[in-house]
Amino acid sequence: MPQIAVIPGDGTGPEVISEAVKVLKAAADSFGFQVFLDYFDLGADRYLETGDLLPDSTLRELSDFDSILFGAIGDPRVRPGILESGILLKMRFDLDLYINLRPAKLYPGTPCPIVGKGHEHVDMVIVRENTEGLYVGRGSFENKGTRDEVAVQHSVNTYTGVERCVRYAFDYAVRNGRKRVTFCGKTNVLNYAHDLWQRVFESVAGNYPDIESGYAHVDALCMFLVKSPEIYDVVVTDNMFGDIVSDLAAIIQGGLGIAAGGNINPLGASMFEPVGGSAPEFSGHGTINPLAAIGAVRMLLEHLEYKDAADAVDRAIAKVIAQDIRGLGVNEMGRSTNEVGDLVAEEVTRQSI
Ligand code: IPM
Ligand code: MN
Repeated sequence: MPQIAVIPGDGTGPEVISEAVKVLKAAADSFGFQVFLDYFDLGADRYLETGDLLPDSTLRELSDFDSILFGAIGDPRVRPGILESGILLKMRFDLDLYINLRPAKLYPGTPCPIVGKGHEHVDMVIVRENTEGLYVGRGSFENKGTRDEVAVQHSVNTYTGVERCVRYAFDYAVRNGRKRVTFCGKTNVLNYAHDLWQRVFESVAGNYPDIESGYAHVDALCMFLVKSPEIYDVVVTDNMFGDIVSDLAAIIQGGLGIAAGGNINPLGASMFEPVGGSAPEFSGHGTINPLAAIGAVRMLLEHLEYKDAADAVDRAIAKVIAQDIRGLGVNEMGRSTNEVGDLVAEEVTRQSI
């Protein structure tokens, strides 16, 4: 029985996670397995009451779970950066969640923001390195607060870190019947960091003769992603570029109402989340779209190798988008958060019969 840690978090996190859990339970019931859920109250409320972000003891407990389902963190009462680095980034680093996997697929029935493009054009996966690069928080100030100030921010890229990420991207392509892996970098400027990335990419690619490999500078990739999203299949990139490019991919797939991601340690507890964040201004209205959190459940099930259940959740999401809701954005669904969760859960149950 998989043991799942659930962290609803802040803002709209709890609302969407309760729908995601509803769908997870429906999938477990319908496909004949049980899940054990344990809730953790990390987030702004706990921080404001006790000063705790993610205590080491909690981190150790989390590492014993099979997977973690995460809502969102972020709250206007807390200065930006504190919850992000103290909870989300700490979890990524300390649980060594070295892949940030962000699929971007446009479900039929979702209008594509790119004129002339539809679901047959948008089906890609961004594999973002998740524990290195500019996110390591290393750097320095000199002469802080003066006109002579110099701020340095280091991007740390290790052979081992880059190799395991690139290898994951190719293995992912093989496992999922994908044809092409593109390295997204900036080799014309980042003469150390992406020199290493390029050498590693080429050497790993050599071990996968059946997968096509390609390269795109990040600026060009942003243009092509909007002009011709169909040319991308699997894209592998560093932490900072992955952060940016995956948001662009998210809007192309219909926006943050549908975008889900996995923070993956292939050998340990992995964490799945809606990409959109806590959106505190919308919390409590029942208008936020739970499909991104439900998509996170789909990824979690796939990761734990409940493939039939994951596929049923995918088909249920597709059906609800095509037949039951008007749009994907906040206030656009024509249904409440709760109703959308019910519809997907019912459809998952129906799928299994
Ligand atoms: C994301 C977010 C985080 C990131 C923030 C909240 C630190 O934007 O998950 O993409 O930059 O990685
Ligand atoms: Mn981001």
